[in-house]
Amino acid sequence: MKEKLETLKTEAVAQITATETLKELNDVRVAYLGKKGPITEIMQGMKNLPAEERPQFGAIVNVVKNEIAQLIEERQVVLEEKEVNEKLSKEQIDITLPGAPIKIGSRHLLTKTVEDIEDLFISLGYSVAEGPEVESDHHNFEMLNLPKGHPARDMQDSFYINEDTLLRTHTSPVQVRTLLKHGGQGPVKIICPGKVFRRDDDDATHSHQFMQVEGLVVDENVSMADLKGTLELFVKKTFGESREIRLRPSFFPFTEPSVEVDLSCIFCSGKGCGTCKQTGWIEILGAGMVHPNVLEMAGFDSKKYTGFAFGMGVERIAMLKYGVTDIRGFYTNDVRFLNQFKRN
Ligand code: DAH
Repeated sequence: MKEKLETLKTEAVAQITATETLKELNDVRVAYLGKKGPITEIMQGMKNLPAEERPQFGAIVNVVKNEIAQLIEERQVVLEEKEVNEKLSKEQIDITLPGAPIKIGSRHLLTKTVEDIEDLFISLGYSVAEGPEVESDHHNFEMLNLPKGHPARDMQDSFYINEDTLLRTHTSPVQVRTLLKHGGQGPVKIICPGKVFRRDDDDATHSHQFMQVEGLVVDENVSMADLKGTLELFVKKTFGESREIRLRPSFFPFTEPSVEVDLSCIFCSGKGCGTCKQTGWIEILGAGMVHPNVLEMAGFDSKKYTGFAFGMGVERIAMLKYGVTDIRGFYTNDVRFLNQFKRN
């Protein structure tokens, strides 16, 4: 019996050591220690022994049984570690592979252009003012020296909502609203960015909705020279130090005198090209000295106060600065167009 036990143990040790997987080890455990295994069988055979030998024999069987169990446990630890390592080496992550790109949006080119203009004028001491897009005829026209029936109203084909209300055709009504708020008291120094609307057919250079930035300075002794200096600075900061401006006499009902402002052509530096129609100059905005009627209607003493104003189309500025050739690009929002202007 003892010998049988020894052989059994030797066999078990050999088999346990030979196992390569936890499954094989489990099979060995069932084979040796399970209910139908040789140990159980030997235990059951003990009843045939004389009663006095049973305890001693039982103890020996138990020792062998425990030894086998102990060996299985030790092997289990080894195999478990082996399997974890194998799994880890199979699932290794290649950290040199490029990651999946995360798409990050960016500010719209128009927003960026408006913000750049705002930054510049804020640095010159201006505040930013806003007004409603649905505006009264009174603010949009009448208070700007454009009474009903004035022929210059035709310069701005309008979307009327009813007889007295329209989508503002320019940001100039914000001038009026700001002056009224000041109650006849200078100084006033604002820019007003915002959307404006006109009944235009859309094409590469026209859009029924676009953006303007209006500027207004009212104080004692404000002169045309201040206007020119301000616009010169704006142009140099926006388009480069070598850019020049030229003022041409023009007409707006709300300014007197009125001018149109040209920028020396950024494409040919004034030599003459297709974009500037061989003139060397590109028109970029309208401006002038605030008409005394506008000041008086808004409660300012036009003998004490003078002012200048200007209004520019933001798309036009952005198109020139970034070489955009179709204004509709700002509104169709093709991400391939927008992505070109991501700021780092
Ligand atoms: N409001 C004018 C327009 O939309 C632009 C303009 C011209 C604004 C002269 C002004 C100005 O403030 O002084 O065509």
